[in-house]
Amino acid sequence: MNPPINIFDYEVLAQASMQPVIWDFFYGGSDDEVTLRANRSAFERILLRPRVLMDVNTCDISTSVLGIPVSMPVLLAPSAAHGLAHPDGEFATVRAAGAANTLMTLSTESTRSLEEVAALAQGPLWYQLYIYTLEEAQGMVQRAEQAGYTAIVLTVDLPRYSRRERDLRNDMNSYQQAHYPDAFSGNAPHLSVDGSDNQNTYIGDTITWDILPWLCSITSLPIVVKGILTAEDAELAINYGASAIIVSNHGGRQLDGVMPTIEALPEVVASVDGRCEVYMDGGIRRGIDIIKALALGARAVLIGRPVLWGLAVNGQEGVQHMLELLRSELTLSLRLAGCASLADIQRSLVQLP
Ligand SMILES: Cc1cc2nc3c(=O)[nH]c(=O)nc-3n(C[C@H](O)[C@H](O)[C@H](O)COP(=O)(O)O)c2cc1C
Repeated sequence: MNPPINIFDYEVLAQASMQPVIWDFFYGGSDDEVTLRANRSAFERILLRPRVLMDVNTCDISTSVLGIPVSMPVLLAPSAAHGLAHPDGEFATVRAAGAANTLMTLSTESTRSLEEVAALAQGPLWYQLYIYTLEEAQGMVQRAEQAGYTAIVLTVDLPRYSRRERDLRNDMNSYQQAHYPDAFSGNAPHLSVDGSDNQNTYIGDTITWDILPWLCSITSLPIVVKGILTAEDAELAINYGASAIIVSNHGGRQLDGVMPTIEALPEVVASVDGRCEVYMDGGIRRGIDIIKALALGARAVLIGRPVLWGLAVNGQEGVQHMLELLRSELTLSLRLAGCASLADIQRSLVQLP
């Protein structure tokens, strides 16, 4: 195949380069994968209403998230076990994010430790938290704060691990234990939220909104709540102390049948009404997807699988190139839409179905 010129090319190359078991783990969703597909198809139903004869000779896509400058409104979503995609694992990812001047969110279930990743960072980092025990979570949060992470991203859509039927059929757990025993345990020896390891003490199905004030009491870092899909929960997140919200359905990997995130976004944005920053993830593959998300009120988007495709194809360089492809698509599409900066993206730029 010719060199990749968009994220879908990376996806094809990534699949060709991976063991099918690993591909299924990265690509797949839960149950019937209805939400996984909907995250993409929903973008195609939203149309753009461009303006013409605007001066778009320069086009500025820099912005900030929670006061942190980033070169574009595209952040790296947390995803587990980058060592399954490339031997350098999160070392490659963090270098690529730094080179692109954007922010990386490190998963609790990373292959490399949060301290090792921070030591290589040239850009901002957030730490994504799953709560196994309160004691361990407190330790993780303190480690992250000490290592220089600037926010804690609490993932709230995983009270329990969903059924990922591709992984069940492939017996992914046994495959991973046999071939990549340390892939998920960079931060603590026993991590793996799917319960495959009997030492797991994951308490995600017992925690409630009170976890937010507790987190605020143990750290001075802002808390970003990831996995909100409704106005009701957005309101609660703000009331309980969240500094920002990520509209997310875990890339179609948790409750199947939930709405695609680009369709959930407007209701959350309306409910938040400017009281905190709102980001979204799920299905972002093109510059125009980013424009649609920003027009509907997101301050930035996060990308999950595209990072893994870049990693699998060409390590750090692959992730960097994938990010540059997205950056150039975004600036070109903005110009074609008549926008000289992100501030020019108005709600009227999109037409909902
Ligand atoms: C292989 C894989 C692993 C993931 N691991 C995590 C994780 O450890 N923590 C988390 O909060 N979200 C995790 N996610 C969800 C992503 O953060 C993000 O919500 C999702 O991938 C966005 O959708 P996209 O892949 O279509 O961009 C994971 C997603 C994938 C594909």
